[in-house]
Amino acid sequence: MPDTVFLGRKAEIEELQALQERKSASLVVVQGRRRVGKSTLIEEFAKTQTFYEFIGLAPDKDMTAQMQRDEFARQLSEQFGLPKFIMQDWGDLFTLLYKQVNKGRVIILLDEISWMGSLDPTFLGKLKTAWDTQFKRNAKLMLILCGSVSSWIEKNIISSTLFLGRPALYLKLNELSLTESNQFWGKYYQ
Ligand SMILES: Nc1ncnc2c1ncn2[C@@H]1O[C@H](COP(=O)(O)OP(=O)(O)O)[C@@H](O)[C@H]1O
Ligand SMILES: [Mg+2]
Repeated sequence: MPDTVFLGRKAEIEELQALQERKSASLVVVQGRRRVGKSTLIEEFAKTQTFYEFIGLAPDKDMTAQMQRDEFARQLSEQFGLPKFIMQDWGDLFTLLYKQVNKGRVIILLDEISWMGSLDPTFLGKLKTAWDTQFKRNAKLMLILCGSVSSWIEKNIISSTLFLGRPALYLKLNELSLTESNQFWGKYYQ
């Protein structure tokens, strides 16, 4: 396939840009079904900025919480050029990440967050603590929590008292409009 041209999502991009004008760190939640365009939207928004992305490993019957932590650690090492390491505690992983992003304008994406965190019962609590005591301190930081499993996001982030009042923006993505989809498919069938 040729490189896809980014289409639509103007309102969402504007909302994200407006948040960056604020003088405080922002927590953003993005949900929508698989393949609706969540990751693409965030990558497009962040493409001219300092951007780090972490993606949970797809579910498997043999998946363990440690495998998710190892994959996060691997992505950390890769993106920041750190030596390989193993950590048992999400708090340590978030602290290590924060040390790399405590200054300057930066966007961090935790993608497929339900895959990343659902096997470790401490994940959400550690994330909340990391936000409150670390990430939030960089006023130019944006942390985006994204996932395709809407029921998990609704229960554990949106209606959870743990994150009450913290997200500055919720985006629920729907399919691109018909005109936008036509432009999309038109590229392949003209
Ligand atoms: N706004 C867009 N314009 C053009 N192509 C898009 C757009 N959003 C998504 N796509 C295409 O649709 C596919 C699925 O998008 P993706 O961002 O991976 O979805 P999600 O992260 O929601 O699962 C990708 O191939 C992507 O290139
Ligand atoms: Mg995605």
